Amino acid sequence: MRRKKLMIIVISIAVAAVLAFGGYNVYRRPAVFRSLSDNSLSKCQTEAVRSEIFAKRDVKVLAAYFSYSGTTKKAAESISEKTGGDLFEITPLNGYSNVYTQSNREIRRGERPALADTVENMYEYDVVLVGYPVWWHAAPAPINTFLESYDFSGKLIIPFCTSGGSDIAETMPTFLDSCDGLAVYGEKRILSSDETDRWLSDLGFAAQ
Ligand SMILES: Cc1cc2nc3c(=O)[nH]c(=O)nc-3n(C[C@H](O)[C@H](O)[C@H](O)COP(=O)(O)O)c2cc1C
Repeated sequence: MRRKKLMIIVISIAVAAVLAFGGYNVYRRPAVFRSLSDNSLSKCQTEAVRSEIFAKRDVKVLAAYFSYSGTTKKAAESISEKTGGDLFEITPLNGYSNVYTQSNREIRRGERPALADTVENMYEYDVVLVGYPVWWHAAPAPINTFLESYDFSGKLIIPFCTSGGSDIAETMPTFLDSCDGLAVYGEKRILSSDETDRWLSDLGFAAQ
């Protein structure tokens, strides 16, 4: 009888541990159960867009970024300086009073939070670098709103991120979910200035 009781207790503890671990991981990866699409251009089509753009004498560059606590902002400022591009801050209209729970819910539900500003002259740009912090192993939802707010066809979209450790590859499924028909290329997690220089030069940007 005592053995049976002990067995029940052990099994209950094991089930509770599995449920807690599973629940914690689902919370940490809110995009995990979403059905995400990737209808971006193929490698070959993207290369055609890229080479057409870089054959131009004057390539117009925009570094657009979302930053919550300033790290991505710094990276974007440096990238805009190094590429001679313009800078645009992607600002959510309503901000975040509790960034952890709100951002988690937005990503889990695939929300598209409204933004405060628009780029009126987006048609002028050839290359749009899009920067963001990794949030919950995904791109923050305001990035999806931004990507779905303009006609980026014929332009080159280059994602970059900062993070506490996650690589940008983890965020690409949520990023590409908003890139139907677009040429997305060269994504990079920004770590150091030297590495950024090498990355930009590999992408085809001449040092400014
Ligand atoms: C809500 C939230 C979720 C985060 N999720 C992750 C994550 O999944 N992986 C990671 O490496 N860092 C994560 N971070 C850390 C940020 O990506 C990192 O601090 C980033 O550089 C902050 O950029 P910012 O100052 O431009 O906002 C998270 C931060 C916040 C606020």
